[in-house]
Amino acid sequence: MQSEDKLCVVVLFGGMSSEHEVSRVSAGTFVDHIDRTRYELMTIGITKEGHWLYTEASSAQMADGSWEELGSNMPCVLSPDRADHGMILFTPAGQVEKIHVDVVIPVLHGLWGEDGTVQGLLELAGIPYVGCGVLASAVCMDKAVANALFDANSIPHTKWLSATRWEIESDPEGVCDGVIAKLGWPVFVKPANAGSSVGITKATNREQLKEAIQLALANDRKVVFEAFVDGHEVECAVIGSDPAVATRPGEILAGAEFYTYDDKYKNGVSQVVIPANLPEEKLDEVKTYAAMAYTALGCEGLARCDFFVEHGTGRVLINEINTLPGFTPISMYPKLMEHEGTPIPALIDHLIALALERTEKQHG
Ligand SMILES: Nc1ncnc2c1ncn2[C@@H]1O[C@H](COP(=O)(O)OP(=O)(O)OP(=O)(O)O)[C@@H](O)[C@H]1O
Ligand SMILES: [Mg+2]
Repeated sequence: MQSEDKLCVVVLFGGMSSEHEVSRVSAGTFVDHIDRTRYELMTIGITKEGHWLYTEASSAQMADGSWEELGSNMPCVLSPDRADHGMILFTPAGQVEKIHVDVVIPVLHGLWGEDGTVQGLLELAGIPYVGCGVLASAVCMDKAVANALFDANSIPHTKWLSATRWEIESDPEGVCDGVIAKLGWPVFVKPANAGSSVGITKATNREQLKEAIQLALANDRKVVFEAFVDGHEVECAVIGSDPAVATRPGEILAGAEFYTYDDKYKNGVSQVVIPANLPEEKLDEVKTYAAMAYTALGCEGLARCDFFVEHGTGRVLINEINTLPGFTPISMYPKLMEHEGTPIPALIDHLIALALERTEKQHG
């Protein structure tokens, strides 16, 4: 039975990306902290294979993966039909049940969730959702497109190049020559669209560069090359739009040579320091560029903007924007917000309010 006086909020979690496991933990934060007196929460898990299941799993069951085995799970879909404005459950009795949904929180990281695909479905359905729209999600997912837009908007970035699979296969030596001539050593090699450091290598010679290209191509048909930046790794939380508000940045003290997927989400070796260990004017500079970059790339709702502050020169260089940043207990975004006085339940309220406001503006 649906409550009459509470907004029905659906949290989507899991998904088909390499960040499936992180998403399950991030979504648990929403499940545990959403204000149940105001919202009726429902959860839909998306398996790695792409099956959608309505589930009543606890956050612990979501985190450890056992949610998938629950007998009470029901296959479901989000209907693109605006008359439905919600989800359709397929009950064990072979019937369908329609559930009206007021807001969706797509707590999905990476491909097929943070990249505009799910956002497109929600646009079609006319259901308000938390976070960036289709364009900003897709643009921030593609590191080559994002870098080009940073350049176009005078947001400082390290030197970079990109090449497609066809360009690389047509002239592999020429591509390596171009990268070495423009970027020098070491060079970071990344799939344009992947996330969580998957397929990323720091190459220090031509042989490594060639191997790195093959690894990146195993993950995407486009490869991004970036000159190495030796610097502090700092991150800002940004919220809202018109105007976007950025927090002071926090800093990641990495445990390995670079901040890998395992460091970030499994090993617990990286440490977070808030605010970043930098002079006040540097913190302000990062904050200003974070709001600029977020706005320039069309972000709405929330995003985490990641930067380097170069040792020695103090240059502030943007690395990337994550449109659905991690929300795990060790994640930077909720910690930055808490540090500025917004605890997680209030943050969730604010994000939901922003989602509803955006839909009202579109219609108004
Ligand atoms: N140009 C660079 N110079 C120095 N270090 C870099 C550079 N690019 C990336 N790194 C290091 O590699 C890490 C992963 O890179 P990046 O953030 O681009 O990948 P990602 O796949 O989007 O990761 P995530 O989604 O986990 O943030 C960075 O956090 C940083 O430690
Ligand atoms: Mg990153």
